[in-house]
This record gives sequence, C-alpha cells and structure tokens, in this order.
Amino acid sequence: MRIDLVTIFPPLVAGAFEHSIVRRARDRGIVEIYVHDLRRYTSDRHRTVDDYPYGGGAGMVMKPEPWFRAVEHLREQGNPGRCILLTPQGRRLDQALARRLAAEERLIILCGRYEGVDERVREHLADVEVSIGDYVLSGGEPAAVVLTDAVVRLQPGALGSLQSTVEESFAEGLLEYPQYTRPPEFRGWRVPEVLLSGDHGAVERWRREQQRQRTRQRRPDMLAELGADLGDVSEATS
Ligand SMILES: C[S@@+](CC[C@H](N)C(=O)[O-])C[C@H]1O[C@@H](n2cnc3c(N)ncnc32)[C@H](O)[C@@H]1O
Repeated sequence: MRIDLVTIFPPLVAGAFEHSIVRRARDRGIVEIYVHDLRRYTSDRHRTVDDYPYGGGAGMVMKPEPWFRAVEHLREQGNPGRCILLTPQGRRLDQALARRLAAEERLIILCGRYEGVDERVREHLADVEVSIGDYVLSGGEPAAVVLTDAVVRLQPGALGSLQSTVEESFAEGLLEYPQYTRPPEFRGWRVPEVLLSGDHGAVERWRREQQRQRTRQRRPDMLAELGADLGDVSEATS
C-alpha cells in the first residue's frame, strides 16, 4: 500500500511514522509513506496557500489551486488512489471505515489548516471526507497520523501476529477483554484465577463473557448495532 500526505507542516506528521509498528511496516516494504509540502505546489513568490474568505468572516481559507496541483501531480505517478479530505464534517472514522481504507492500494490524505479548505476541493478533488471525531483540531495533521496508524496496522504482516487485529476491540463488534501480565499479584490485586489455570477453554469462555460485559457497560450502542443474541449477561460490578 502507498500513502501520500499533503500538508503545510511536513515535520508534524513525518516523525510519527519513524517509530514502532508503522516504521516496521515501512521497513518491511508493507507500506510506502510519503509526506509532501503543499507549498511546493504554489506559484507565487510567497508560496501562499490561504486567502480571505469571500463574504467575510474570521480567519483564512486554503486556496484550491495548490491542492489540485499537488494531487494531480501525485496522480501522474501511477495509481490515482482514493483522495481523503480530513475535516470535522466528514464521515467519522471507525474500525469499519479503517478496514475499507486499508484495502485500498493508495491513499492521498489532505491535511487542512486555518478555517478549512475552499469548498471546491471537497466537491471536485476529494473522494472521501473523514473526521476523527466530533471536535475541532487546529489542523488535519494529528488526524492524518491517527488515520494512517489505523490503516497501516491492518495491513497483513504489519503486526507480529495477525491474531492481534482479530481479537482486539471493535474487530467483532465488541470491546476487548481485560489483559493482565506478570506478576500474578500486585499490591494485593490478583490476576483472575481462570487466567492462571491453564484451562484454555475456560480462558476462552471467560474472555468472551468479559467482552460482552464490557461492551454492555461501556458501549451499549455497539451491542445495539451488532444486534446479536448476547444471552444472559450479568452486569459487572465496578
Ligand atoms: C480549525 S479546522 C477547520 C474547521 C472548520 N472551520 C469547520 O468548522 O468545519 C482546520 C483543519 O483541521 C482539520 N480538522 C479539524 N478537526 C478535525 C477532525 N475532527 N477530523 C479531521 N480533521 C480535522 C481539517 O483538515 C480542517 O480543515
């Protein structure tokens, strides 16, 4: 997979891809990530990317020309990919959307700034608008890091074990079960006995039950969406 990010602050995103799972995926050739400076695609001496909004109002709006030039230039290099505009007005990112985007061969991600981008970018350049949540960031860069991470870790071979993405939260419409590691007792708090029992069937049943309890307690909306028969799930005490 190839991911191109376009931003006026390349260092804000570039460092995030130099570590951990994303770095390893790049090193293994699972994903190629390129960060492009939008100002390279301006045509004036001051490398202007913004201008006053028509109709007045606070703040500046990002001009359309550099975005079109950047994306058209990138698309000359092979697969046109899916062009994603990051905006709080977009479809909210969830694991299902991350999976769909992870299946694309190429993503071109546009990071807005200021009051946002000229509407013609949304209408005539972007294929998808994505939001990472119902709050407003100062720029699309943190959102681009979130989206890229969510998509890269779903690439086959990106994680040590494929099982990790199968069992984690949201994978099956449920939150993940609680995790413990050594020591078996810490400050008097013991790891649940079943996890120390060596009985794999019992561990499996306990985890499944924990997933259901947690999801019911914390995210009943997910259960409603799942529409699954969850049987007799007792409320956990907290
Ligand atoms: C200050 S915001 C602009 C918000 C815009 N005036 C509005 O009310 O919809 C600047 C840029 O940050 C990015 N951004 C802000 N919040 C975001 C979010 N929740 N998800 C994705 N991108 C976001 C977008 O790229 C946006 O163009």
